[in-house]
Amino acid sequence: MSEVITPSGVIGRDTVRQEARAKVTGVARYPSDIPVPDAAHAFLVTSGIARGRILGWHLEAARAVPGVLDILTNENAAGESKPIPPTKGGGGSTTTLQSDRIWHSGQIIAVVVAESFEAAREAAHKVRVDYAGEAPAASFGSPGAQVQVLEETLEGHEDPRVGDAEAAFIAGAVRVDASYGTPTQHHNPIELFTTTCFWEDDRLTILEPSQFVQGLANTVAKQLDIEPAKVRVISPLVGGAFGSKGGATARTAWIAVAARRLGRPVKLVASRSQGFTIATYRAETRQRLRLAAGRDGRLQALLHEGWEVTSRPSNYNVQGTETTARIYACPNVWTRVNVVHADRNTPGFMRAPPDLPYGFGLESAMDELAIALDMDPVELRRINDTRKEPIRGLPYTSRSLMPCFDAAAEAFGWSRRDRRPGSMREGDWRIGWGCAASFYPAKISAACARVTLSARSVRLDIAAHEIGTGAWTVLAMTAADQLGLEPEQVEVHLGDSTLPAAGLAAGSSHTASICNAVAMACRELRDRLTHAAVTANAGPLAGQDPARLRFEKGALCGESGAAEPLEALLGRTGPVEAYAEHIPHGNPPDAPDKLRQGMPQTTGGAQLPDRIQYGFGAQFVEVRVNARTGEVRVPRITGAFAAGRIINPRTAHSQLMGGMIWGIGSALLEATEIDRRNARYVNDNIAEYLIPVNADVPSVEVIMVPEEDRLVNPLGIKGVGELGCVGTNAAIANAVHHATGRRLRQLPIRPEHLL
Ligand code: MOS
Repeated sequence: MSEVITPSGVIGRDTVRQEARAKVTGVARYPSDIPVPDAAHAFLVTSGIARGRILGWHLEAARAVPGVLDILTNENAAGESKPIPPTKGGGGSTTTLQSDRIWHSGQIIAVVVAESFEAAREAAHKVRVDYAGEAPAASFGSPGAQVQVLEETLEGHEDPRVGDAEAAFIAGAVRVDASYGTPTQHHNPIELFTTTCFWEDDRLTILEPSQFVQGLANTVAKQLDIEPAKVRVISPLVGGAFGSKGGATARTAWIAVAARRLGRPVKLVASRSQGFTIATYRAETRQRLRLAAGRDGRLQALLHEGWEVTSRPSNYNVQGTETTARIYACPNVWTRVNVVHADRNTPGFMRAPPDLPYGFGLESAMDELAIALDMDPVELRRINDTRKEPIRGLPYTSRSLMPCFDAAAEAFGWSRRDRRPGSMREGDWRIGWGCAASFYPAKISAACARVTLSARSVRLDIAAHEIGTGAWTVLAMTAADQLGLEPEQVEVHLGDSTLPAAGLAAGSSHTASICNAVAMACRELRDRLTHAAVTANAGPLAGQDPARLRFEKGALCGESGAAEPLEALLGRTGPVEAYAEHIPHGNPPDAPDKLRQGMPQTTGGAQLPDRIQYGFGAQFVEVRVNARTGEVRVPRITGAFAAGRIINPRTAHSQLMGGMIWGIGSALLEATEIDRRNARYVNDNIAEYLIPVNADVPSVEVIMVPEEDRLVNPLGIKGVGELGCVGTNAAIANAVHHATGRRLRQLPIRPEHLL
C-alpha cells in the first residue's frame, strides 16, 4: 500500500466544494435545522459563581411560566447521567448536575424544558438558586491556584530533553532569556452549540454538530449506561468547530435525559455566551525561553518551559514543547510543562492547540536571537535547519522549511529590508517587516470506508466530518480520481455514527485519514472490476493483461483503444461493493475497533519510533504602527507552505489563508478577558470578543510549495488545517519590533502597549 496512483488527475485539481451552493443559498441543513416533529425546547441555567456548592433551589416562579414541562437539577436528576470521563481532548472532568459542586463560572446547573424556546428561556431566568460560594482562583498568580509539574503528575509524560542545556546556555556566546504570554481564547464558531435528542424505545438519536460522531455516541452511551450500538449521532454539516466540537460536552447527555423523562424529542440551542463556559477554550499560557548560540548563529542550547491553565480536576495540557524542542538543530535541549489548576472550565483543543502558543514563544525568541547576533532572521533559520530532530536523532520524512522561507521571502521582497528597527516610516506610520516559521505535525488516524459501484451510481459511505474544511469534496475527489470518474458522480454519505468509522476531524489529520481509506477501498474495486473485465468470455477487454488496464473517463481502458464503459461492465457484474480499513504507520492493528469504540489513535508528528513528520511554512508580514495612536495594521502578509500532496488546491488555499487570518487575530485581537475576582469571562459575546474582519486583512498571499512525501502515508497527504495559523503571531510581533524597536511578548498586542 505504498504506491501512489492518481489515474484521472482529479486529485490536485482546483475544485469547487460540493456543498457550496447549498450553503450560500441557505438550503444546507446543520444539525439543529433538521426538523424534529413535536420537539420541546431546552434552555440551560448556568452557575453565577465559580466555586462552591448549591444549597437549594427556588423553582416555583419558573414552573409557573406557561408551557414549562420539566426542570432538571442536581436534586431531581443527579443519578441519570454520569460525568464525562477525562479525555485527551480536554473538556469534561467536572460534574454538572451530578452533584451540588460548582467547579467554574457558567457551569450547567439546571436544564429547563418547555413547549417553546421563549418559555424555556423565560423560566430559566426565573430560576433562583442559593449558593455557598468560596473565593475562586481565576488564573496564573491567583491565590489558591495550584502549580503542578506535568511529569510529576501525568503518567507516561516525558518532557523532550537532550544534552546539558543549562551548562550550554551559561557557556553560550550569545543568549536570549525571555518570557512570553498568550491569552485565553474561545473558538466562537458561527454555528452555536446545539443538541437535539430523541428516543425510539431504548434507542437514542442525537443531532449535534460534531468533529467525531463515534466519540460522541460512545461517550454519551457510557454516561447513560446504555449500549453504544443504541446511540446514533447525526452531524451532516458542522458550522465551524476549530476543536470546540471534538469531544463530548456535558450538555448532550442532559438533553438525552430530558427527552427520556419527557418521552418527547428535546432541542437545545445554547446561547453565544453560554458557549464560552459549556464548551472548551484555549487556555492562557506563560512561557520562558532561553536560547544560546555561538557567534556563527548555531544554536547551542534551547530551554523552553511552559505553564498552562486548566480546571481543578483535569490535567489537560497542550505541551507545545513536543514540537518546539525539535524544529531546529541543537545539541542541548531542555523542556518542561507545568499545569496550573484554577477554578475554571476544563480547556480543550483549539486550532493548533500546542503550536500556536508555543510557536509564538519559540519564533519570537529566534527573532530576538537574530537581533542579538546581528543576523538576518531567515539566515538564522537556515543555519539551524536540520534533516533530523535533535532529541532522538530521527529523520524528517520531508522537510521544506527553507524552501518555504525562500519562496515567501522572494514574493514578499524581503531582500529590500533594512535590518535596523525604525528604519521605515510614512508620516505617522512606522513600518516594520517580520517573519516566522510555521510548523505542524503531520498526523493520521485509522479510517474505514465503503464504496459501492452500480451501473447507476457511485456511493461512498464514511463517518467523516464536514466542519467547513472541504472534507466532503476531497472525499468525492479521491473516489473519482481512483475510479476514473468526476467528483460530481460520487454520492458522499458522511457525518453519521452508523457509517464506517473515520476518526476525528481534528489535528489536521482528517484528509489524510479519510482519503487514504477511500483510496484503499477504490483500489479493491478496481482490482475486482479489472478481473471481471479480463476474465469475461466476451467483451472488449476479455483476455487483456490486467496490469495494463486503467480507469479513465468513466470507462475501463485497455490496449489498442479497447475500452468498456463502467456502466456496461457493472451491468454485467451487478453492484460491486468494497470496504477498507486503512491502518496507518504507527497505528496498532486494533485501531479500527478502537475507532468504533470512540477511541481514535492519531499518530505521526513526533510520536513515531522511527521517524518524524511535519508540515512547514514561513510567513512574512508588514505592519504599520501609528506613532500617535499605537494602532497596528497588517497591510500585507505572505505565507508559503509545504504540506505534501494537496488534494484540492482551492480548499487547501482557503484553509491556509483562514489560518493566517486566524493568526492575525491571535496576534492583535483575540482574548477572552477574565474578571479575576469572580473567575468569570467578561467579553463572552462576539461584539466584544474581537476577531479580524475583512478590513483587517487587506492582502493575504498564500503560496503552496510543491512537496512529495511518499513516507507519510500512501497518498502523501500532510494536512493544512492548522499549519497556516502557526507563527503568524510571532511574525507580527517581530514586525512590530522592526517598526518600533519595542519587543512585545504578551499577546494580543494592543495600542496601549505601544504608546
Ligand atoms: Mo482542531 S483544534 O484539531 O479542531
